[in-house]
Amino acid sequence: MKKNKTSFFCQHCGYMSPKWLGKCPSCNSWNCFAEELISDSDSGSRAEMNFDGKPLSIEDIPAEEGNRTITGIAEIDRVLGGGIVGGSAILIGGEPGIGKSTLMLQMMHNLAQQGLKVLYVSGEESASQIKLRSGRVGAASKDLLVLVEISLEKILEQIKAVSPAIVVIDSIQTVYSGELMSAPGSVGQVREASSRLILFSKKYGIPVFLVGHVTKDGSIAGPKVLEHMVDTVLYFEGDSAHAYRIIRSIKNRFGPTNEIGVFEMQDKGLKEVPNPSTFFLAERPQNVAGSVVVPSLEGTRPILVEIQALVSATNLGMPRRTAIGVDHNRVSLLVAVLDKICGLHLSGSDIFINVAGGVRVEEPAVDLGVVAAMASSFLDKPIDARTVVLGEVGLAGEVRAVSQMDVRIREAARLGFNRCLVPKTNAAQLVKIAKMEICKIGSLKELLENLF
Ligand code: TYD
Ligand code: MG
Repeated sequence: MKKNKTSFFCQHCGYMSPKWLGKCPSCNSWNCFAEELISDSDSGSRAEMNFDGKPLSIEDIPAEEGNRTITGIAEIDRVLGGGIVGGSAILIGGEPGIGKSTLMLQMMHNLAQQGLKVLYVSGEESASQIKLRSGRVGAASKDLLVLVEISLEKILEQIKAVSPAIVVIDSIQTVYSGELMSAPGSVGQVREASSRLILFSKKYGIPVFLVGHVTKDGSIAGPKVLEHMVDTVLYFEGDSAHAYRIIRSIKNRFGPTNEIGVFEMQDKGLKEVPNPSTFFLAERPQNVAGSVVVPSLEGTRPILVEIQALVSATNLGMPRRTAIGVDHNRVSLLVAVLDKICGLHLSGSDIFINVAGGVRVEEPAVDLGVVAAMASSFLDKPIDARTVVLGEVGLAGEVRAVSQMDVRIREAARLGFNRCLVPKTNAAQLVKIAKMEICKIGSLKELLENLF
């Protein structure tokens, strides 16, 4: 008889413990352990996936890099590093309602139009609801197969029977395996379902997209191990207040990370935004203090974003510092540097920083933009509308080099900017671009002298 063994799993990170714990030693969350039945190690995944376990010389392994499927949606293809790699597992995370199912359906429709047989497995919506949505986004093709199912065993059976070119599982949290007693969506189930789907896809060379929900704190629900198991992790970002959606690669074994694809949610589904800089700068105010444009680099693609700052006298004992779209700690650091090195007395002011359009920029190259916007607002002097700034700021007020200067400057020139304030140390990499004046900045003092 099969022995029923149980263990306790942290429902946040998947840490396993033989006994109940109050606090997870791995992720430090409290009261997050739940008892789950674990199957014998030889059942399920391992038994099903008997790879021929023999070592091979690396020279004898066929290179399959050429084997990429182009989805036809340019933004997705770029984020994936040039199409879908055969046998890869791709996790797509995002908040409920952001458009994951819509994007998947549109992508599947595109693939089906190329004559590929694709399988969309949904555990969240009924077939007729999917049909309704497909009518909305115009996805109708006889090669687009829909399966409404949540049992892992039955899903695998159907994938075997149909042998599609691509599979989408929407969502991984709804899939459950009959071999485990725990409820669908629990850590044990999510891990088991994903590991078996991933092994299956590797064995048969069928790429699988796993749609995953994210929790309130922004991580993909279920164990962190899910992110380690898959080849590519994409996050779908954006908020319901804005129409645009950004898909960002967080991890990619077959392409660059932090690459982004931009979409706009319309009444007929998601539409690609091929020119995001124009999109994000569309509503930029003219001749107003506290606004500056930075050519930021997301993955391999330069995107111009507008950084806004509002510095106003505070009537609180402790002035407020709010940052939306940039790192809060980074802003505190820049405020301190500006205060100490340039003598702008910001300690009595509330400071609000916002990246217009609701984008999030993570690289330190935007430091100089944040500083310039704050100084402009504090001094109440507008920055020239056709100037861009970029550079990382150090604690001594020095301006440090940033990577890939030429692509950034080219993008700025393409959108009609004619002056660029860049770090002095980048001088060697600079390219000459017609009608673009390049100003080399060594320190924050020089920045202020050149800006106003
Ligand atoms: P959905 O793909 O169901 O989100 P997820 O699978 O990530 O939970 O997206 C649903 C949202 O998108 C919903 O708020 C309605 C909106 N939407 C449109 O605005 N236009 C459309 O054509 C479609 C299909 C959805
Ligand atoms: Mg959905």
